[in-house]
Amino acid sequence: MKFPSLKIGDMVPRYPIVQGGMALGVSTASLASAVANAGGIGVIAATGLTVEQLVKEIRDARSFTKGIIGINIMFAVRQFASLVQAAIEEKIDMIFTGAGFSRDIFKWGRQSGIPIISIVSSSKLAGIAEKQGAAAVVAEGCEAGGHLGTNRSIEEILPEIVGNRCRSQNPGYCRRGHR
Ligand SMILES: Cc1cc2nc3c(=O)[nH]c(=O)nc-3n(C[C@H](O)[C@H](O)[C@H](O)COP(=O)(O)O)c2cc1C
Repeated sequence: MKFPSLKIGDMVPRYPIVQGGMALGVSTASLASAVANAGGIGVIAATGLTVEQLVKEIRDARSFTKGIIGINIMFAVRQFASLVQAAIEEKIDMIFTGAGFSRDIFKWGRQSGIPIISIVSSSKLAGIAEKQGAAAVVAEGCEAGGHLGTNRSIEEILPEIVGNRCRSQNPGYCRRGHR
């Protein structure tokens, strides 16, 4: 089966698959590195970890794989800024962030050259993320697990996000037919 390619920043994984960040000890270095070794984007959940624990997870993952490793962090966590800074210092490949919206993280991403990916549940938030400089967005509807920002289905939300992006890229004309 031929997959479309997924480019985030200057990284293109072998398969366009991003593993979900799951806190509570699920998305650790071993899961993230297994996904990265298999050709996807492996993600370590930073939420609930201390800075020292996160640094250890990132270093462990790096020792298990040469593939693409990101972190996922919920904006709502108390140590948000220090966890993000620690991941940046560890030269993480990308940062997924959701459960609230931080404008600062885009500044930190620009300064460090690390792509920031916003987890969004509406086309409005996707547009804001894009304007702030998000390298990509992850769209989540009510079917997803975790902390959800909507009770709408991904089947409604995704076409709106794709349609809006298409319009913003090609005002007046869109080859994909979204108007
Ligand atoms: C146990 C558990 C923990 C989760 N923790 C997080 C988290 O820390 N951050 C996050 O963005 N999503 C979290 N999620 C949501 C998942 O990462 C994923 O985005 C969601 O399940 C949607 O993916 P799916 O449609 O493949 O299930 C969690 C889900 C589960 C089941």
